[in-house]
Amino acid sequence: MKIVVLQGSPRKNGNTQFLVEGFKEGAEKAGHDVEIVNVGNMKIAPCLACEYCHTKGNGECVQKDEMQDVYKKLNDAEMIVFASAVYYFNFTGQLQNVISRFYCKGTMPAKKYALIVSSYSPDVYSGIVETYKHIVDYSNATDVGMKCINGAEQKTEGNHKMMVEFGSSIK
Ligand SMILES: Cc1cc2nc3c(=O)[nH]c(=O)nc-3n(C[C@H](O)[C@H](O)[C@H](O)COP(=O)(O)O)c2cc1C
Repeated sequence: MKIVVLQGSPRKNGNTQFLVEGFKEGAEKAGHDVEIVNVGNMKIAPCLACEYCHTKGNGECVQKDEMQDVYKKLNDAEMIVFASAVYYFNFTGQLQNVISRFYCKGTMPAKKYALIVSSYSPDVYSGIVETYKHIVDYSNATDVGMKCINGAEQKTEGNHKMMVEFGSSIK
């Protein structure tokens, strides 16, 4: 299965990156084709609500920025993983921009989804989890798992093992 991980943290080699790399290792062991797309460092603007896509644009977004590469990568994705640091109880703005840019397509393309979230504090996930569940339902898709990790030091052998196991469990 082709899996695309939308990694929304701008911090290179940060916690979210560490977690998704473990996931990728496990999912590749299970035979999947996994691509991590570091949308946290891409120039992707938010949706302008200009409605070009729903009028003249025929489903295409008027904004020709790096989101165009993301649309291509997601075209044949069978599974999408949303990966994010928690910023004020929500996805990072960078990942939120990517999500809003799906307005031109309506729903997201994949039929399986997962969520990987990193925060400093525990119990800060309700907003993200609800949003994620709504997106999965709206896309008529299936959630295959969520991992929410907190703490000052997350790059641990234990977390790596847990993420590899999570990746390996994907069917
Ligand atoms: C702008 C900003 C807002 C944050 N807001 C929260 C928050 O609301 N709750 C929390 O527990 N951690 C918050 N954090 C901490 C990060 O979520 C946490 O350090 C995370 O592990 C960073 O992941 P990264 O290394 O992949 O960027 C915030 C960090 C930043 C930079």
